[in-house]
Amino acid sequence: MPREGARIILGVGGGIAAYKSAELARLLVQRGYSVQAVMTHSATQFLTPLTLASLTHNKVITNLFAERDDSTATLSSAIEHIDVALENDLLVVAPATADLLAQFAHGLAGDFLTTMHLAFTGPVLLAPAMNTNMWNHAATQVNLKTLQQRGYHLVGPDAGDLACGMVGAGRLAEPLEIADAVTALLHQSLHQSRDLAGETILITAGPTQEAIDPVRVITNRSSGRMGYAIAEKAAARGARVILVSGPVALAPPMGVEVLRVESAEQMKNAVMANLEAASIFIGVAAVADYRPRHPADQKLKKTASRLSIELEPTTDILAEVGRQKGDRIVIGFAAETQNLAAEGKRKLELKHCDLVVANLVGLDGTGFESDENEVLLITRDAEPKAIPRAAKREIASRILDQIAPLRLSARARNA
Ligand code: CTP
Repeated sequence: MPREGARIILGVGGGIAAYKSAELARLLVQRGYSVQAVMTHSATQFLTPLTLASLTHNKVITNLFAERDDSTATLSSAIEHIDVALENDLLVVAPATADLLAQFAHGLAGDFLTTMHLAFTGPVLLAPAMNTNMWNHAATQVNLKTLQQRGYHLVGPDAGDLACGMVGAGRLAEPLEIADAVTALLHQSLHQSRDLAGETILITAGPTQEAIDPVRVITNRSSGRMGYAIAEKAAARGARVILVSGPVALAPPMGVEVLRVESAEQMKNAVMANLEAASIFIGVAAVADYRPRHPADQKLKKTASRLSIELEPTTDILAEVGRQKGDRIVIGFAAETQNLAAEGKRKLELKHCDLVVANLVGLDGTGFESDENEVLLITRDAEPKAIPRAAKREIASRILDQIAPLRLSARARNA
């Protein structure tokens, strides 16, 4: 079912496939969406703005600084790109040329479409179209990867005969396919928009630092990105989020209460102080399992002999929360270098979790210090479910999608 009244920006890049955006505009209008077409200068060489204006029953934007004859022209048109960005629900770019992908990936803002794109915070759907060699070029592929890691969605390109005479990947997806992708994305964002409203989610993230002396610590390679991505997505879905964070180099996610800590002991205290308020606990932090038993008051001096530091165990925060579980949904992580499923299952039982998100660490490109991850979802009742390699934000959304089914099975177990 199309969502009546949704507001779509249709960005049109300058390529021969621009003519197909007219059909896309018609389909989107037919589905009850209001469509604001924005054309790049080169798009207007392939398709007249009048065509899109007639189909969308709306003016078409082609210039960052619209030509007006009154003295307020510059000011009012200069902020139009912000208004358009704020007023619309989804940006679809068809055709997305190699040049537009590059400008988006690098945050350039040379015309209306690219400037408005920077101010737009909703879902972005790209329908690329270009010559096969341009599509396969390393630069285009890197730009595409950058955009996908930021959560941009892709439809096409298809393979087939291209306008340039070549045969291969690069043909714009069919307008109907693009319109269906728009509808699906709108559904997704509508459906998920506030589904965690009313929940208070307590999340731990990042590494901890255990003092050896006033200047030295024992820590690990956790970047905090997975925990911060979950916090950001949960807040965007309406939850109150309390993020207990070890030392990381990340900006606090929007709308999240961040409590900064250093050691495992401080992290445990911050968690326990906020547990009462929490309906969901997600332990993402790579908490130190051991800390120096007697941290030195003064900086340790170098000597010729060996140095041994006696370590003592820290409290397992997740296990402690598991012991005081009550009605809460408790989600843990398992960072493993081998036996992923078995170790995940063992930690699930041991720490009374509803879900353990197991990931391999120490591999290139996923896990610690990486923008991407690849995980296995381990629950009590179902077979482990693999989430293939994706941006951590995407993985974060998939983990949060598990909360509703987890509640249902917890209720069924307690009934
Ligand atoms: N965890 C915790 N407090 C600790 C240690 C771990 O809350 N002191 C939590 C982590 O946040 C994670 C889960 O326990 O959600 C598993 O952490 P992991 O390091 O994978 O496992 P450990 O239980 O520490 O076991 P091991 O290091 O032996 O694999």
